Amino acid sequence: MTEYYTLTNGLQIPKIGLGTWQVRDEEEAVQSVVTALKNGYRLIDTAAVYQNEEAVGKGLRESGVAREDIFVTSKVWNADQGYDTTIQAYKDSLARLQLDYLDLYLIHWPTAGKYVETWKAMETLYNEGLVKAIGVSNFHQHHLEDILEVATIVPMVNQIELHPELSQEELVAYCKEKDILVEAYSPLGHGKLLDHPVITEMAEAKGKSVAQIILRWIIQRDIVALPKSVTESRIIENGDIFNFELTKTEMATINQLNTNTRVSADPDNFDF
Ligand code: A2P
Repeated sequence: MTEYYTLTNGLQIPKIGLGTWQVRDEEEAVQSVVTALKNGYRLIDTAAVYQNEEAVGKGLRESGVAREDIFVTSKVWNADQGYDTTIQAYKDSLARLQLDYLDLYLIHWPTAGKYVETWKAMETLYNEGLVKAIGVSNFHQHHLEDILEVATIVPMVNQIELHPELSQEELVAYCKEKDILVEAYSPLGHGKLLDHPVITEMAEAKGKSVAQIILRWIIQRDIVALPKSVTESRIIENGDIFNFELTKTEMATINQLNTNTRVSADPDNFDF
């Protein structure tokens, strides 16, 4: 069902994945992962700070899908940033997930004074073959520039908040120029955009749901979409976006809805 992009190192990454932020209930986390994988998803996104890595790991195993066919992402939490602590945090995530490697490991936020050193640890994990790809999350252009000054490996991914009211055009263009694949978290604006009048009208005209229109808009921009849901029918609906296309005009209409409104913290102003 799913389609793939290719990272700079040749690794294939699904265009859509299941987000698991705020899925704290263990059974819910297990079931949402199982449901996603049984319905064609091949990318599962978690993080140490979500406190659901054990449950996500259980879901991976219960799904019956082969490990090598699944793309698993986790992230080093801010308190663990630094060289040795990042290496240890990676091993701790693997232990909780009961996996022997991750497909992608990300620096969760650009913690001041820490993320450049943390990137060095990410490079070590990659160079030692412990992880298949490395990247960052919540990085503005200036954070990426700091890393690029010292990096021997350019981050392969930048996972950022991105949805129709935060279209991130400049940052996406910068990432494209540097061959950094963008991933969109909170693609539905944390569910707040699902009654947007303009997208609702478009969805009705095309016989699709608002969520499907938004997710299609994201993948047509060559961005990975990571919608979160714990509801079976929605997980299925969100994955079912490979059998229709938005026209140039429809893409432009959604592009114009940007208001630079965030549902999560600004990477230039967070205190966690
Ligand atoms: P739930 O998990 O209860 O199914 P985002 O990914 O932008 O953060 O949005 C997640 C929110 O949107 C969750 O509250 C989720 O609810 C809801 N959601 C996800 N997909 C759909 C959908 N297809 N239709 C309606 N609500 C959805």
